[in-house]
Amino acid sequence: MTVKPESATMSKITLTDTGLFVPLAAGETYFNYCWLRDACPSCIDPQTRERIFDVASLPVLPRAGAAHIEDDALVVDWQTESQVSRIPLDLLETLATRGRADDPADLPRNLWYADRVASFVRVPQQAVLNDQASRAQLTRALIEDGIAIVTGMDSDTDSLPRLVNAIGPITPSAEGLFFDVRVEIEPTNLAFTAGPLEMHTDLPGEEAAPGVQFLHCLENTVEGGFSLFLDGAAVAEALREEDPEAFHLLADYEIPFFYRHDNWDYRAHQRVIETDPEGRVTGVTISQHLQDAMDLPQDLLDRYYPAFIKFLKMMQEERFLVRFRSEAGNCVIFDNHRIVHGREGYVADSGKRHLRGCYTDRGALYSTYRVLAKQGFDGLIGPQDELQRA
Ligand SMILES: [Fe+2]
Repeated sequence: MTVKPESATMSKITLTDTGLFVPLAAGETYFNYCWLRDACPSCIDPQTRERIFDVASLPVLPRAGAAHIEDDALVVDWQTESQVSRIPLDLLETLATRGRADDPADLPRNLWYADRVASFVRVPQQAVLNDQASRAQLTRALIEDGIAIVTGMDSDTDSLPRLVNAIGPITPSAEGLFFDVRVEIEPTNLAFTAGPLEMHTDLPGEEAAPGVQFLHCLENTVEGGFSLFLDGAAVAEALREEDPEAFHLLADYEIPFFYRHDNWDYRAHQRVIETDPEGRVTGVTISQHLQDAMDLPQDLLDRYYPAFIKFLKMMQEERFLVRFRSEAGNCVIFDNHRIVHGREGYVADSGKRHLRGCYTDRGALYSTYRVLAKQGFDGLIGPQDELQRA
């Protein structure tokens, strides 16, 4: 830790051997010289917006000869090279306050429960395609709630890719770019039968499971077959509250998943509860039909299995489950790392049920939202919209 010299006052910049102290609104804050030199706007090419400065190219570590605040920037006169850096105070304030650069997509998750079904954000497809404010509303909802519904989908075969491409490029899976959820004669997945489908996230056997899933309902006239959704982050937080030991077992250890058929054999280990470095729940991974034989030490399984079973049972509790009928012309979009989904069984010959699906990744979703936010479309829902959702 760098110690500030005793004689320094709050109002002026104090130079040390390795960095400097700046008086900011957030309080006096220390910044390392290498970091400051890297933060100089001249390090970024204005055309490509990529970094063109290599801190390792300097013959010696950077060191300030003088520094002062001028207008909205910290001006650093480097002792070690003929370079003056003007570093925006905004950046320093954000770092001092948040510990990282500002990110419009870093929105808190709204955990939701069974009573949320009527108020999922719904946006018409044409609005998503043609109106930035509507696209921002949809992408913000997908970040905050993890789920949203696009209504009024065109029924042509390009309808789904048109929608997905407004949010991010389609990412392939073993099934290809698209998959069709309907009864098949020789199914490669339980989803392609009329049977019930237990609550799961898709394809955990892939090294990076798909990020955002789209399910476009083309036809649904069968008896039964209701779609089931729950917020896995809400269930995980409830588990943490009710049984912290179980929560930590599921968040600390990885278990194996697979996806096998004639021409593929995917395998990956995943944590059932995903947390970020701050310990916040960022998602869940669950799929009993794609779960491989547990390979944790057997004595650890004495504790792991009860925790795992408890979590699975919680995901069947009515307080978390949202149940609704997929309507032709709607497309449900959800975060596949957070929202757990399933299906009730249906009578195969009672009608037709056909959902077409595909994926994009979460990075693309966040990217689209950031671009919209920078253009002034933050996707916040106004009071009138709230009334329509209620
Ligand atoms: Fe699925």
